[in-house]
Amino acid sequence: MAIRRIREEGDEILRKKSKDVEEIDEKVITLINDMIETMHKYNGVGLAAVQVGVLKKIVVIDTYEDGEQFVLINPEIIKSKGTQTVEEGCLSFPNKFGKVVRPAEVVIKALNEKGEKIKIIAKELLAQAICHEIDHLNGELFIDKIIPGSFEIVKPEDK
Ligand code: NI
Repeated sequence: MAIRRIREEGDEILRKKSKDVEEIDEKVITLINDMIETMHKYNGVGLAAVQVGVLKKIVVIDTYEDGEQFVLINPEIIKSKGTQTVEEGCLSFPNKFGKVVRPAEVVIKALNEKGEKIKIIAKELLAQAICHEIDHLNGELFIDKIIPGSFEIVKPEDK
């Protein structure tokens, strides 16, 4: 496994749409393992492949709660309910934070790293994280959705 370089604000790749994964081959598995390691290194709750420069529909999630670690390949939101207003950040925008409105609950279908179909009913932080990462696959960024007046730049020493 290896830590991959995270693409940051201003990198045009972050605005591009990712493509479906057609085959879960060795290269994809290596990418997934590297994404998990990279997410953990930077204490992220999620990471999309585009953030390490690969335009494939792959997301890794870890809310650090039991049973909330997921690999989502070609994820799709099939149901969405309610709203929650939440503080959000992104590994591609270090030290920037703001409040966004996300669904309170979503149902997602995807494939896992074994190619098995999975369905997740997600609430709270898990729903937020999954929606944030699926946005990345569409070239959408949380900074587009920040509620006016809630934007904050936090210097590392303030954290
Ligand atoms: Ni992000």
